[in-house]
Amino acid sequence: MNILGISCYYHDSAAALLQDGMLVAAAEEERFTRKKHDFGFPHHAIDFCLRQAGLTGQDLDYVVFYEKPLLKFERILMSVLQTFPQSWGVFRESMIAWFNQKLWIKGQILTKLNIPDRKLLFVEHHLSHAASAFFCSPYQESAILTVDGVGEWTTAALGRATADWDGKGLNKIELVSEIRFPHSLGLFYSAFTAFLGFRVNDGEYKVMGMAPYGCPNRVEDVYKLIEVADDGAFRLNMDYFSFHRSTSRTFSDKFVKLFGEPRVHESDFYTSTTHPRKNHPRWDEATARRNQHHADIAASVQRVTEDTLLKMAKAAYQQTGLKKLCIAGGVALNSAANGRILRETPFEDVFIQPAAGDSGGALGAALYVHHVLLGQPRKFVMEHAYWGQGYRPDQVITAVEATGRSYERVEDPERLAEMIVTDILAGKVIALFQDRFEWGPRALGNRSILADPRHMEMKETVNARIKFREPFRPFAPVVLEDRAPEFYDQLVDPGRHYPLRYMLTVYRTADGQGDRIQAVTHEGGTGRLQTVRREWNPLYYRAVELFGQATGVPVLLNTSFNLRGEPIVNTPANALNTFGKSDLETLYIDRFVVRK
Ligand SMILES: [Fe+2]
Repeated sequence: MNILGISCYYHDSAAALLQDGMLVAAAEEERFTRKKHDFGFPHHAIDFCLRQAGLTGQDLDYVVFYEKPLLKFERILMSVLQTFPQSWGVFRESMIAWFNQKLWIKGQILTKLNIPDRKLLFVEHHLSHAASAFFCSPYQESAILTVDGVGEWTTAALGRATADWDGKGLNKIELVSEIRFPHSLGLFYSAFTAFLGFRVNDGEYKVMGMAPYGCPNRVEDVYKLIEVADDGAFRLNMDYFSFHRSTSRTFSDKFVKLFGEPRVHESDFYTSTTHPRKNHPRWDEATARRNQHHADIAASVQRVTEDTLLKMAKAAYQQTGLKKLCIAGGVALNSAANGRILRETPFEDVFIQPAAGDSGGALGAALYVHHVLLGQPRKFVMEHAYWGQGYRPDQVITAVEATGRSYERVEDPERLAEMIVTDILAGKVIALFQDRFEWGPRALGNRSILADPRHMEMKETVNARIKFREPFRPFAPVVLEDRAPEFYDQLVDPGRHYPLRYMLTVYRTADGQGDRIQAVTHEGGTGRLQTVRREWNPLYYRAVELFGQATGVPVLLNTSFNLRGEPIVNTPANALNTFGKSDLETLYIDRFVVRK
């Protein structure tokens, strides 16, 4: 049984392929087209999935799209009509987009794969999200929480799911209560993202990164925009927003009256917290004060978002009485909120789909069809995120030789790990490219940049060498799974919690430990850690382990292997190109070592 799932036309297009219920391949289109958050039809991702399994379109039993386009079209029409004539611009633009492309998705898929009509199915957006978490988890029964910007109508849903491993029971996902557009926690957060000078659907991480530099002293004002009941049900006060009636602006004049002028896109961010000695090259007192005001707003909206998600998770616990929770939807990438859900709710186990945003819907839609519509028993648990394309050594060597760079071939993985650690101990910043690329937005050791996490200066070094990103954004630590509790508070039994291996949660550093890993400890003493176990990624694990033996700190700085504004590298050629354009010192690519 071959089932292909597809998501596209909103953001982060993707494809995923199941064979007899086992995941074979899953990838986001952006990795192939090199267009960040590419939302176009995922031609390349589909071709990759088929190639990986050695199939053609003819071999597919079903193709599933991750939402119901007509329901979505209805939502857009209805909401535009309700705010007409202010929404004329939205009406015009969305009609053009829908009639040019989106309404014909069915024909496009049938033509692309050359399959008959009866093989094409559609699953609702939030059911796809829910299935992407539950059917990748090891749980037989769990509460479900999905939270995103918007799908067809739903923007958040609570429910429960059941599916035995023996295949005897009925597999089902029931979304019991839901919140509908325009009331959306994702769009609420995105409005602040835009206001704080970042790009919507891209800069949400930056708001989260800015929050620890602020004080949540505007929480009361933020609550003028969103009313949250004790059970987490929320309503937006639409007077403050304009995403429902404008194509270019997500917040209204009333929003600006309350919070002041929006932050200028890409402007310098420094405050007396980021630069206590006022040593920023363009230091200006008034700018620092204005930045502080914006950081306070970031802290406040982050606090309200976390508190709302906590209430929703607690309601899911009360409604279901279950001890396990599965989460998906773009808001589930808010790793600070996820950490609090793990620590502050009665749930004993939490699974979060690593591709929690719309790309993950492709996988969820396929899983939903296999298990719920076709009633097939479960076999699969997502134990790692390495589902993208990999390259053979001969492909790697051809790419290396095409650059004219010299290289060393190292067949022994132990020797490779030793060389990586020797470089890192010498203060070098290195890139590690191996096997298949990661599913979801995080680099987890197969397309990663690694460095020594112990001293603060390394943050600037990595930024200067390659990332060129906002200096306030933290880098993340990768830590040996069994040593993680030594470095982070309230981190008990790390092997049990799947979100840790996917870098989906933020924890507070334990007393005094932040000083040992300064470059990966955020303002206020937190870290968005990734845990690693030998069986998931032996070379990556061994490098961290050897670094630990040499320094007493079994932790490395891990950041994604890409230039600013570009998707994470996919091919060996991408890797070599990025290596060439940056000041990275060594590239470990498959079993080859390339130095500058
Ligand atoms: Fe979504």
